[in-house]
Amino acid sequence: MAIRKVNKASEIYKDLAIRVNNGELKNSDFINGRGSSKGLTRKRIQYVKRNLISYRKSFKSILDVGCGDGSFLVEFVEFCNDLYGVLPSESEVNLTRSILKNKKLDKSIKVIKGSTTEINFKKKKYDCIICNGVFLIHGFTLEIVEESLEIFSKLQSKNGLLYIGEQPEIEEDYYRREKSILKKIIYFIKGKNIKSLILIVYHYFLRLFSKRIFYRLSENMFSIPINEFEKILNKYDYVIVKVFESSTNKIISDNEKNKKMLRRVDYLCRKK
Ligand SMILES: C[S@@+](CC[C@H](N)C(=O)[O-])C[C@H]1O[C@@H](n2cnc3c(N)ncnc32)[C@H](O)[C@@H]1O
Repeated sequence: MAIRKVNKASEIYKDLAIRVNNGELKNSDFINGRGSSKGLTRKRIQYVKRNLISYRKSFKSILDVGCGDGSFLVEFVEFCNDLYGVLPSESEVNLTRSILKNKKLDKSIKVIKGSTTEINFKKKKYDCIICNGVFLIHGFTLEIVEESLEIFSKLQSKNGLLYIGEQPEIEEDYYRREKSILKKIIYFIKGKNIKSLILIVYHYFLRLFSKRIFYRLSENMFSIPINEFEKILNKYDYVIVKVFESSTNKIISDNEKNKKMLRRVDYLCRKK
């Protein structure tokens, strides 16, 4: 059993990329944060692509902040010929560049080291900015999210589109209970959630007996209700065009926006 304690989830992605680069891990899909589920990544890409393309048919430039293995950018090659990605560690940048090189797209998609709060491309303005599955990772706080939005807004051309995907509306208590196996088991027994109970027991069995490395996080996940996030987006000159439920891609109506729910949400926004 090996458990690595990390603070921010970004340390996990860096570590995973190092292990893929060293040949220790074969599956580079991990870098997208969806384990080995290529299916889940494909589904998400199709939703984001559909939502953006139904609003605009082509883009002058696209910047993907926290671009993982570049899967989203690859899908937009036919709609844009000026594509950029940002990743927070050298190891992830190297990994993604080599993945793009294998696809012969390393010349079309430029990837550099940076973060949501530090984007150092020479280019000054972007027509479209995508930030999918990033603000939700452990270690982001309201302050960092606001700082990031301020930077996105400065880099975004007038009427440009910002797509923030998979933002949790309410933090699932599950993550806070992470530290106590017993509390977790009791929670699932009380909720008669047998499927999760079996999964959790299986997971701990793996932790004890497999050679896999597990990560243990100490920082919390950032979550925010839709109406509150809308106010913050407005503060940085963005207006919400549409809000979608990330897992189904259903549009969330204005009425539904008022109900706080345990769900992940996609925001399609326009810069004023
Ligand atoms: C869950 S993955 C999502 C990857 C990709 N956007 C997707 O949706 O498939 C989280 C990504 O955020 C990146 N990341 C972590 N901390 C970041 C930060 N401070 N700024 C920008 N990206 C960050 C990670 O390197 C990783 O690529």
